[in-house]
Amino acid sequence: MATTPVVDIHTHIYPTTYLTLLRSRTKVPYLLDLPGKLAPPRLIILPSDDDPALPAHQRGRPIDSSYSSMNQKLDFMKTHGITTSVISLANPWLDFLSPEEGPQWAAKVNNELEDICSTSQNSLYAFATLPLSASSSRITGEIHRLQSLAHMRGIILGTTGLSQGLDDPALEPVWSALESAKLLIFLHPHYGLPSSVYGPRASEYGHVLPLSLGFPMETTIAFTRMWLSGVFDHHPKLKVLIAHAGGTVPFLSGRINSCVQHERHFPENEGGGRGPKRGLKEVLRENVWLDAVVYSPTGVRAAVEVVGKDRVLFGTDHPFFPPLDEGKEEWMSVDTNVQAVKEAFGEDKQGATKVLGGNAIELLGLDVAGDG
Ligand code: URA
Ligand code: ZN
Repeated sequence: MATTPVVDIHTHIYPTTYLTLLRSRTKVPYLLDLPGKLAPPRLIILPSDDDPALPAHQRGRPIDSSYSSMNQKLDFMKTHGITTSVISLANPWLDFLSPEEGPQWAAKVNNELEDICSTSQNSLYAFATLPLSASSSRITGEIHRLQSLAHMRGIILGTTGLSQGLDDPALEPVWSALESAKLLIFLHPHYGLPSSVYGPRASEYGHVLPLSLGFPMETTIAFTRMWLSGVFDHHPKLKVLIAHAGGTVPFLSGRINSCVQHERHFPENEGGGRGPKRGLKEVLRENVWLDAVVYSPTGVRAAVEVVGKDRVLFGTDHPFFPPLDEGKEEWMSVDTNVQAVKEAFGEDKQGATKVLGGNAIELLGLDVAGDG
């Protein structure tokens, strides 16, 4: 019997090349092997993880084989009925490299992702990574090269761009190259908010505040800056997939719009000509896709309401958010997102099916077995 394809567009990996890079470093981000290698190495990913007062096994986060093993990714897909995954390098990508180092590592990582996908019988595609610390000609050079890699469907992008954020005019050639290459931008958070906002008791709550609130706010601010600076006016065909159902963009889009309309600083409100020309509503309906990694039907409904039901795509965020009980095969985080989609669509089974796979197949031109 033919099956309905389920496509996971938000699923990460630290390929071997990247782990080698992290192991070679002593500054954040770096990988710390524990003595005797009895426990998984620790990824020191944020400056706050790099606390020499803590013993090595308590610094950063453990990076077990699920972060790099493709066999484990394929088993995970099988367990959860996922037909196809679009894999991407996990944060913090290559943001931290020097301008000289960036391009060669980007090429190595992207080639490894392509190799992984090309031996997967079309069950894997990828979003590439860019050498954002390099000159814009090296970045656009890599974008052009990606077009020769058969399984690349876009690029994953953090919120800092070339270091000054996504409203940086220096990003113009990069947006142009991505627009003409028709590569989707997967906008994903990493840096969160300044730790001071979490207060002196932050450590009592583990990663709850940075992951549940810092990540979505970081994404919301990055996308809003991109829109405010006119990126979508200059690049009307640019395509952006925003992680975690757009952060808080769906909920706050009315408020963002209203603040623009009431901003006296924008001369166009008094007959002048600054500020974005294409409204937020239009950009959300024409340039933006949202993933459904939001863990509630309310979040899925909000996403659908602002971008439309053809523009919301299922994801898992694997290998993050595994079950706390290590023996468990089914992941609560995945089940919550699948149920959220089904509940949000109710009787509209076809709508749910499209979010779970059909929309991604259409948007990314995936060759997927099944009857759709
Ligand atoms: N999800 C991610 O993609 N990255 C993290 O660091 C944590 C959760
Ligand atoms: Zn993610």
